Amino acid sequence: MATPIDVVIMAAGKGTRMKSKLPKVLHRLGGRALLAHVTDCVARLSAHQAVVITGHGAIEVEAACDRMTGAAADLSLKFARQEPQLGTGHAVQQALPLLADEGVTLVLSGDVPLTQAATLKALLEQCDGQRLALLTLSMADPTGYGRIVRAGPEASAQVRAIVEHKDASEAQRAIQEIYSGIMAVPTRLLRGWLSRLDNRNAQNEYYLTDIVKFAVEDGVAVVAHQILDAAQVAGVNSPVQLAELERVYQLRRATDLMEQGVRLADPARFDVRGLLSCGQDVEIDVNCIFEGQVSLGDGVRIGANCVIANASIAAGAVIHPFTHIDGEKLGVSVGEGALIGPFARLRPGAQLGAEVHIGNFVEVKNSTLAKGAKANHLAYLGDATVGERVNYGAGSITANYDGANKHRTVIEADVHIGSNCVLVAPVTIGAGGTVGGGSTITKDTPPGALNVARGKQISLPNWSRPQKKKA
Ligand code: UD1
Ligand code: CA
Repeated sequence: MATPIDVVIMAAGKGTRMKSKLPKVLHRLGGRALLAHVTDCVARLSAHQAVVITGHGAIEVEAACDRMTGAAADLSLKFARQEPQLGTGHAVQQALPLLADEGVTLVLSGDVPLTQAATLKALLEQCDGQRLALLTLSMADPTGYGRIVRAGPEASAQVRAIVEHKDASEAQRAIQEIYSGIMAVPTRLLRGWLSRLDNRNAQNEYYLTDIVKFAVEDGVAVVAHQILDAAQVAGVNSPVQLAELERVYQLRRATDLMEQGVRLADPARFDVRGLLSCGQDVEIDVNCIFEGQVSLGDGVRIGANCVIANASIAAGAVIHPFTHIDGEKLGVSVGEGALIGPFARLRPGAQLGAEVHIGNFVEVKNSTLAKGAKANHLAYLGDATVGERVNYGAGSITANYDGANKHRTVIEADVHIGSNCVLVAPVTIGAGGTVGGGSTITKDTPPGALNVARGKQISLPNWSRPQKKKA
């Protein structure tokens, strides 16, 4: 039986340098809260529970965790308040009543979003239920970080302590190996060491990092697990750092997709803020944004500057440039071989069958279009059921809202709706019928009929236009 793992996620700090009202760990990276990235990673560790230390913005942070979706939804999340914030050691002290003595505690920070589960697993292996394992990194410019002080100059020399930058001597400041902020420690030992902390240091804080010297005093082995990938332990303290990590994150997502065969015109101009799954031979042009859950079938092509959220696009469909699709909660589905855009807008509940064409400046909301239906220019379809092969003319709209309630428009198969028609719902246009351009249809129409509802055209012959009066 492996040692049970309790995770402590520190998230009580103020994040002053974000200069924001939003608690730092709720700022978004790849469309999700920083803290959600951490809990998603923890969910891959088969941890027994995770305790989030909250302080600044505690109510908001705790509420956001309760709403959390994704991998972390199944994780047992608990909270411990830290008020006031007296340092990282003091933060972990707040979690102690919730931690199981026989286990290992993994300490993470809520503002370090890109750590990989494999890295934490390797650290937990180094800890092995009995050692103090520190995740470390060598940095060209280690300013500001805690330095790993070893017994001698060799890279393998015994770790003796972590010295915070502000407390370090000139010689110690020259050390390039830094503590990442992540450690794994046997919980029983942690409990004892935390009770020995004091705040006699440059910042008058209770430093978690001081437990290293207690481990050394007690003869407990301290291991430094050094990694090379700095992004995995990079924290977010400012909008600049947030934007830097966003690009790292996006480049990683882009690389993963390209490795699966997706062809991106430019991985630097590509953003996924959620989950994007792609079939074979998918091509995505520049400046596209994918949000929520999006799936693209085999051979789908996405033109430049599209924003696509919560939608499923079937094989062979082409989304032309500048199309905006947002399924929100209802979703949007686009059928096989459909052609959408340029400049199309698909809203929640748009369900488009195979080979449907939606052209420029056409808006579709909560409507079903059967195979081969077309609305190519400047039109609105809201709360409509549209049959196969219907042709819906330029400038036509469904008047679906009477000011109080929404009503449905049914357009049966093979109907031809001319240009500039208003279909006042509830109304049904019978199969195979035609609606003459400019008609305002308020009553159901029979199948096969030509329906015209507009002022009759009159012509006055030889009519002379009024003349301008002479002054
Ligand atoms: C800490 C480490 C330092 C390490 C660095 C890596 C200590 C004393 N120092 O320094 O060795 O190199 O991280 O980034 O641990 N927090 C609380 N409550 C507090 C204080 C902090 O929850 O009272 C949280 C913060 O919100 C943050 C995390 O702990 O998520 C780290 O705190 P921070 O102040 O950034 O630590 P550093 O001084 O950077
Ligand atoms: Ca920090």
